[in-house]
Amino acid sequence: MTNDASNLAICARGLVRRFGDLTAVAGIDLDVRRGMIFAVLGPNGAGKTTLLRMLATLTAADDGTATVMGHDIAAAPQKVRASIAMTGQFASLDEDLTGRDNLMMLARLWGFRGRAARIRADELLAAFELSGAARKQVKDYSGGMRRRLDIAASLVVTPGVLFLDEPTTGLDPSARKGVWHLIRQLAESGVTILLTTQYLEEADQLAERIAVIDHGRKIAEGTSRELKAATGSGVLHVSLADQSQLEAAAELLAARLGSAVQRSPEGAELSVPAGNAADANAAIAALIAAGVSVADFRLGAPSLDEVFFALTGQPATSETPQNPEEAAAS
Ligand SMILES: Nc1ncnc2c1ncn2[C@@H]1O[C@H](COP(=O)(O)OP(=O)(O)O)[C@@H](O)[C@H]1O
Ligand SMILES: [Mg+2]
Repeated sequence: MTNDASNLAICARGLVRRFGDLTAVAGIDLDVRRGMIFAVLGPNGAGKTTLLRMLATLTAADDGTATVMGHDIAAAPQKVRASIAMTGQFASLDEDLTGRDNLMMLARLWGFRGRAARIRADELLAAFELSGAARKQVKDYSGGMRRRLDIAASLVVTPGVLFLDEPTTGLDPSARKGVWHLIRQLAESGVTILLTTQYLEEADQLAERIAVIDHGRKIAEGTSRELKAATGSGVLHVSLADQSQLEAAAELLAARLGSAVQRSPEGAELSVPAGNAADANAAIAALIAAGVSVADFRLGAPSLDEVFFALTGQPATSETPQNPEEAAAS
């Protein structure tokens, strides 16, 4: 194979999946090069899990085609399954077993015999910094430990592609950093990683390329730099020491940064899109020079909402009413 497709771990064209009247995935194309971390970014209900499940052959596509590691998902699902691993919302861990026993059981399922199963389990525990908890029951693990064990469990045999469905949702920041570190190490070892996330920061930190999806459609794709360029670099948040200066400060910021200024309903806070850090700094300096007492300020990365707003002109819908009965009734 010398064609381009041989460089692709995943190649999807026009994938569609419907549930009754609802089109969960509405025609998605995806090219994921071998060895890269690729993020599918989108709010709840965007169709991320459904997309992953089609690629993993857990759900049939209603339309479109895809290959995973060169195998067609419809024609050769067994070969696809043999070359992937999936974790996330499909935890297969036994709560009452220890971490080590869980991994040894899986290793045996994969054909490791006796001592070899034990060795593989211990290797994974060490790689995922779980050796100290090896003999604890999984039900006593913290969220971060569980997530690491969950990923370890999918890597008993090294897959070509690892699907990670929202690998850090629900984790605290330090556990999240641990999982990020581990995902990077896996990518360095040559595993192609397709992950879904609701967090721009996660996609930004990990992924070489990001596809933004909403309502089952891909609305943008690129590197995080390209996406941010479409969004502006961030938002300047300013807190004032003296609330009576709010209006004057808002006018000044609007004039300096050329964007509409949002006033928080309570307190003396303002936020305004800022093109870059230099512009934000200059605006703060102008406020101070005008005698405004600034209590605090911060230039934040754009949130997922702000990326969505910039890409679609619409606020992200994080709470789509998705009761299938309602959808069917309407
Ligand atoms: N088995 C199913 N039956 C009916 N609707 C479903 C099913 N799975 C997903 N959906 C709907 O499809 C849409 C996309 O869901 P999902 O792929 O889980 O999104 P995400 O993972 O981005 O949150 C949602 O509106 C969801 O309610
Ligand atoms: Mg999901």
